[in-house]
Amino acid sequence: MLKQEIEDGTRSFADPAFRADVIDGLTRRPRAIPARWFYDRRGSELFEAITELPEYYPTRTETALLKEKAGEIAALVGPGRAVVEFGSGSSTKTPIVLEAVAPSAYVPIDISGDFLRESSKALAARFPGLPVVPVEGDFLQPIKLPAGIAAAPKLGFFPGSTIGNMIPLSSADLLRAMRASLGAESNGGAMLLIGMDRIKDVAVLERAYDDAAGITAAFNLNLLERINRELDGTIPVEAFRHRAIWNDDRARIEMHLEAREDVTFTIEGRPFSIAAGETIHTENSHKYGPRDARILLRAGGWTPIAEWTDPEDQFALYLAEAQAPRPAP
Ligand code: SAH
Ligand code: AVI
Repeated sequence: MLKQEIEDGTRSFADPAFRADVIDGLTRRPRAIPARWFYDRRGSELFEAITELPEYYPTRTETALLKEKAGEIAALVGPGRAVVEFGSGSSTKTPIVLEAVAPSAYVPIDISGDFLRESSKALAARFPGLPVVPVEGDFLQPIKLPAGIAAAPKLGFFPGSTIGNMIPLSSADLLRAMRASLGAESNGGAMLLIGMDRIKDVAVLERAYDDAAGITAAFNLNLLERINRELDGTIPVEAFRHRAIWNDDRARIEMHLEAREDVTFTIEGRPFSIAAGETIHTENSHKYGPRDARILLRAGGWTPIAEWTDPEDQFALYLAEAQAPRPAP
């Protein structure tokens, strides 16, 4: 990086984990970059725009479900828990839950730091007296919860079907890590309120991930722009097109960036070439049928105690309790 660029603030600090994932992801076959790198400031803004698209049904469906079931959720959860939200983003659904469960604290966790700080500030202003303690970080790595909330029983909140962005192996690992960090045995046992998107008509799914206005395409292509911005890349972004494909065998929408032509570029001076038609796999969004969802929760150490869906069964909300350690055998 040039000294002038540092002084001008025209180049941002490159996260070494981002650099490693991009270099490794573009070197191996098939090419793939983890979806968490979508969420720089621009990516978070584009995701917010996606949630308002007519084709993107998950956000409005889950929000309506949370509003409609808030009373039932409150009755099962009870007051005084510390709410820990995983991938909180703009925390738009959070007030519905906080108003319902009268929490003792709110801990939003997100990798998108600026966005997290701004939404935490807005939330603290809306709930005066509620301790709001944001944690910036990757929830796939061990997360240290703030010491101040150690004594309170916890409610994990994991909306948006963000669990679907992980392969089942990682989802089960994450659910188990959540069970450990939220406290399986202490303080009355942890609970988890989690949203999961259902398997449905392929045309509906593909439209939700390839909208007419091209916002999801911009969200996907922003990853290449982020590489250019933060890793001194020379990727010709217009040489790639957004693809969203249903993989029926794996029950997931896959997003890819497909080269329209043979492309060569450098990243921090390293040369890469991608032939026309080849893709970079950028996201999986797994969808779960009712039994699949319950099995995944149990595999992750959580017992579902309530399940709510919209009338068209497009999206499901689960409330689960941390499984107690099982006596032998
Ligand atoms: N919960 C919100 C936002 C979902 S978008 C909703 O329901 O609408 C996914 C969010 O998870 C983004 O804010 C993104 O920055 C965050 N995120 C994705 N992967 C993450 C990771 N590995 N660790 C922490 N946050 C992550
Ligand atoms: C955050 N996550 C659950 C979204 C999803 O639906 O998989 C991200 C997204 N990707 C494209 N559109 C939305």
